[in-house]
Amino acid sequence: MKKVLFVCLGNICRSPLAEGLAKHLANEKGVSDQFYFDSCGTSRYHIGEQPDDRTLKNAANNGIKLDHQARQFEKKDFRDFDYILAMDAANLSNIKILDQAKQFGDKLYLMRDFDPNNPGADVPDPYFGGEQGFQNVYDILERSVNNFIETELI
Ligand code: 4NP
Repeated sequence: MKKVLFVCLGNICRSPLAEGLAKHLANEKGVSDQFYFDSCGTSRYHIGEQPDDRTLKNAANNGIKLDHQARQFEKKDFRDFDYILAMDAANLSNIKILDQAKQFGDKLYLMRDFDPNNPGADVPDPYFGGEQGFQNVYDILERSVNNFIETELI
């Protein structure tokens, strides 16, 4: 069982969508028993909240159901998870700061390290933009999460 944690800033837009997509895709491929997926945020801004209404709407339009309450990244996540996938360089950098003894670097990735299209780029923060930004995030995550699962299959 591979334990995978998706991380963004607020845990209400990008990372809960990545988590929902991952569960959906693993289910569709019949490999959900190989993975455990969760998501969180580096900030405490939205702890306890449901995903943003625009994220919920976008996910529903794409046939994905989200069931997640925002939580903040905690240091125990370094031990609990095998893969920590940050949505952008700023969030990855903030996670690295919390890894003071630099013990967990081999678990830390950018989500788009797994995007065959423009690998290593940021998943753009859609929070202050319009609905098109949410579909752009969806398209990026669908490619990246799908490729991640395919890469990690036994
Ligand atoms: P997320 O988006 O990190 O993809 O969940 C954001 C959510 C909230 C804020 C910024 C980005 N905020 O500034 O409150």
